[in-house]
Amino acid sequence: GLTFEWIVQPSPDGLAQAYLLTADFLNGAPSAMVLGDNIFFGHGLPKILERADQLETGGTVFGYRVADPERYGVLAYEGEKVSEIIEKPEKPPSNYAVTGLYFLDGSASERAAQVKPSSRGELEITDLLQLYLNDGLLNVERMGRGYAWLDTGTHASLLDAGNFVRTLTARQGLQSGSPEEIAFENRWISKSDLIAAAKPLGKNAYGQYLMQIAGDAE
Ligand code: G1P
Repeated sequence: GLTFEWIVQPSPDGLAQAYLLTADFLNGAPSAMVLGDNIFFGHGLPKILERADQLETGGTVFGYRVADPERYGVLAYEGEKVSEIIEKPEKPPSNYAVTGLYFLDGSASERAAQVKPSSRGELEITDLLQLYLNDGLLNVERMGRGYAWLDTGTHASLLDAGNFVRTLTARQGLQSGSPEEIAFENRWISKSDLIAAAKPLGKNAYGQYLMQIAGDAE
């Protein structure tokens, strides 16, 4: 079976702190971290995630073009090569933001212990990534314009993301990012597991959707 553990960050001291708080849990294993306010959508997404997951040493992050890079960690390039990752720069060196999806190898906790608090008092993920970059161990992949990367960290961006998902799901008649559907499609759970997950949600559209997926699989 799957085991999981809740580890709560006592105060908002930065994303890199996740690797300190989870050091015992990770115990030197590689990990993936995704920020709860980030939404990714695009054809072929599972493939790029699988590829990042297979890398045994170093890390993989994704650069995505945005109109407002100053809100994010931003990639600075020397020619084709990424030379630096800068947190919320006043003058962004490029339009490429680092998305909130990080695949890091088993050295992440050890490296995070070297990160010093920034001027906003946080252990910045960008400083941790910079340590990988300095060692030539950071693989920065472009996530192309065919993907949607949305964040929901402000009221306006939450509404934008909601509208995007609403438009898509209404048009296709398919949900996006349904864990139960994904697990069923991949045969990680059986049809009766799917139905059991749907049952308590039977009065809402999501539960009805799961029942429909189960029915379609007849
Ligand atoms: C955080 C990271 C930043 C990254 C962003 C992605 O920003 O610090 O590097 O680009 O998430 O959503 P924050 O949520 O702290 O503003």
